Amino acid sequence: MRSYSIAIHGGAGTLVKGMMTPEKEASYKSALKKALLIGQNILEQKGTALEAVQRSVMALEDSPLFNAGKGSVFTANGSHEMDASIMDGQTLKAGAVSLVTGIKNPIALALDVMERTDHVFLAGAGAMDFAKHLNYQIMEDSYFYDELRHQQWIELKDTANFQLDHSQKKDNKFGTVGAVACDLQGNLAAATSTGGMTNKRFGRVGDSPMIGAGTFANNATCAVSCTGSGEYFIRGVVAYDLSCLIEYKGLSLEAAAMEVVHNRLPKLGGDGGLIAVDALGNIALPFNTEGMYRASRNNMGKVEILIYRN
Ligand code: GLY
Repeated sequence: MRSYSIAIHGGAGTLVKGMMTPEKEASYKSALKKALLIGQNILEQKGTALEAVQRSVMALEDSPLFNAGKGSVFTANGSHEMDASIMDGQTLKAGAVSLVTGIKNPIALALDVMERTDHVFLAGAGAMDFAKHLNYQIMEDSYFYDELRHQQWIELKDTANFQLDHSQKKDNKFGTVGAVACDLQGNLAAATSTGGMTNKRFGRVGDSPMIGAGTFANNATCAVSCTGSGEYFIRGVVAYDLSCLIEYKGLSLEAAAMEVVHNRLPKLGGDGGLIAVDALGNIALPFNTEGMYRASRNNMGKVEILIYRN
């Protein structure tokens, strides 16, 4: 009998065992479990993969622990600019938004772009006009304020430096969020959302809202959501590359995922990871960093919630 599978991530990075307090570790695992369960329940009740990934990502966006939605990092001018994208593997329809501000759940806006417009990608002021047109509530800056995030920004403020939350500093590890799922009908979907990089300037956009780079889904191959240094994922067109390795080279999901994360991405100098699922419900969760916040329920019903390398 066909089953369903789902995987989520909360970012990959310098996650070294023992560097986090047990309480903090427990709070991450609890937030991951909650987001996984939301998607899992939708799939269990014969809901679509598209709805499951959207809802799981919304739960992660609502948590201050991850760099997306409420937990988004600060830009160079002290604001929060968020990016998100979603793709339906059955129809190959997709929606994406970039550089949106004050939106509680950018992934919902990305889905609205997909379902309510003839476009795929809306950015900046135009995306905000679209949100206002749909009567989205625009949240006060205080909704996105977090003391730790603010401190991260203060350390970089007035310099030309920027920092991906998952990188370098051993005590700073928050990340992009994402979800992939295979529903009971064998349909796939992927969703990704992020606040980008602390102290980012000049309208910098990473891979998360880019279909093919940070997000991709095709029932014929796989659904993918990436996390890491976005510039490398854009240059490697990572999510689509993984799909192509399955489609054109006949690789398994696991082999294709390993190839992009452990061979192609490092050759470009890129660090990070991804989550992927295929139409048989197989799951791959590779990363080339010390850790990746991740949780999954595979097609055998096995649930895992992990942070570090095993
Ligand atoms: N991967 C998220 C970003 O680079 O913005």
